[in-house]
Amino acid sequence: MLIELNDISFCYVGTHDKSLKNVSLSVNVGEFILLTGESGCGKTTLTRILNGLCPQFYDGEISGSYLLDGENALDMELDEIGSHIGNVFQDPRSQFFASNVTDEIVLAMENRNYPHDLMESRLQEFSTLLDIGNLLDKDLLKLSSGEKQKVAVAAACVTKPKILVLDEPSANLDAEAAEQLGKMLKTLKAQGVTIIISEHRLSYLAELTDKMVLMENGEIAGIYSGEQARAFSAEKMCEMGLRLFYPQAKKVISGCTESEPYLQLNDIVCKRGKMTILDHITLSAVKGKIIAIIGRNGAGKTTLCKIAAGLLKETCGDVILNGADLNRRKRMQSCFFVGQDPDHQLYAPTVLDEVLLNRKKTPENIRKAEQLLEQLDLSAFSERHPASLSGGQKQRVLLAAALMWERSVLILDEPTSGLDGKHMREMAKLLRSIADSGACVLIITHDTELINICADFVYKMYRP
Ligand SMILES: Nc1ncnc2c1ncn2[C@@H]1O[C@H](COP(=O)(O)OP(=O)(O)O)[C@@H](O)[C@H]1O
Ligand SMILES: [Mg+2]
Repeated sequence: MLIELNDISFCYVGTHDKSLKNVSLSVNVGEFILLTGESGCGKTTLTRILNGLCPQFYDGEISGSYLLDGENALDMELDEIGSHIGNVFQDPRSQFFASNVTDEIVLAMENRNYPHDLMESRLQEFSTLLDIGNLLDKDLLKLSSGEKQKVAVAAACVTKPKILVLDEPSANLDAEAAEQLGKMLKTLKAQGVTIIISEHRLSYLAELTDKMVLMENGEIAGIYSGEQARAFSAEKMCEMGLRLFYPQAKKVISGCTESEPYLQLNDIVCKRGKMTILDHITLSAVKGKIIAIIGRNGAGKTTLCKIAAGLLKETCGDVILNGADLNRRKRMQSCFFVGQDPDHQLYAPTVLDEVLLNRKKTPENIRKAEQLLEQLDLSAFSERHPASLSGGQKQRVLLAAALMWERSVLILDEPTSGLDGKHMREMAKLLRSIADSGACVLIITHDTELINICADFVYKMYRP
């Protein structure tokens, strides 16, 4: 056995409940292990036990035993664990030290005093193997999220650790970039690397998975072989709160509608300096329907939606709402835009205040706000500081604020990236009920499953 966890429990310092309870897991050389389960079930904590960050970086109380290649890993220094295990995190920015791709990839080798020739040959070997030759010497900050994640994988692999641990590496990637990440992992698996990955998005890992570990509340609720996991019905996967291994892609239906359009974007052009971001884009949306806007990172999805919501200025083109050509201020009064990072949009000291922001606190308004919180399953948090909520909860607070204003157009930027199956399906239901109440709903998304469940139309954008 390469890894043997026996009866591991872990409690973060300052918390009462154990985040991991009696976890036992053995991993063979070359196995591909998928860790799944609802947010908060302990996946990240388990990866931190494996790479030693718990308890060496995240303080806490640990019990049980952890053998790594036959040796007691609980006594090892981080460096020693690091010689066995490479790490890739959800947000690659958090792990980069250098500013250029090559420097970042060779960094781990420099730290280990590899001779120059060996560094050169490894860099060559891995840039060919992982197909990233085109990225070398680029500025890390200028790479797309998918490219950054590729560099993170390469950097974790050049020292040839036997084990690669990844924590939700696809959370910020579009579908195509996730497929490319899957390809890299396939190559590494074929090289004999043992891979342990925590993920919500399963489709790009379907064929790679040898074992699926289902976690619940800090415990292992089930371990399934790849065959068993792939054979689970969609109902069973939903019951377990998971996304699907094989989501059906919905046919792309461009924004044509049979009923009278409510929101019309006509011939929108957006230029920034010499760059054309949007090149004559036309889209119409009707009340009561949900439109998914898809397309690769950089296709202009967010720019188009911010123009619709009055948050950005178009170079030319018209935004027509309910038959009237609206200026930006009017658009802002009719549309509500929930950004990708809800932290930037939360201002008030409590959840209830956030929903009532810029509103008179009349008994009537307060009652309405409380009803919305109830409806969005947020009543228990009404006195909490919005910053203390989880990402999904923050998004729901913003939705409550949007509903409070009774805005007729609701636009959400990537509302479900990084959400587990259960929360993704809850978001879909919520969006449907908002559309049913008569709003026009636009979602920018690369979440195939969300699109399947709730989009009435799919509008695909391409880079100009
Ligand atoms: N640094 C931390 N300090 C205290 N509690 C934490 C920390 N990180 C995670 N937790 C808690 O541990 C539990 C498991 O979380 P986590 O391992 O992040 O789950 P997952 O990755 O499956 O979403 C949660 O209750 C979470 O709030
Ligand atoms: Mg996690």
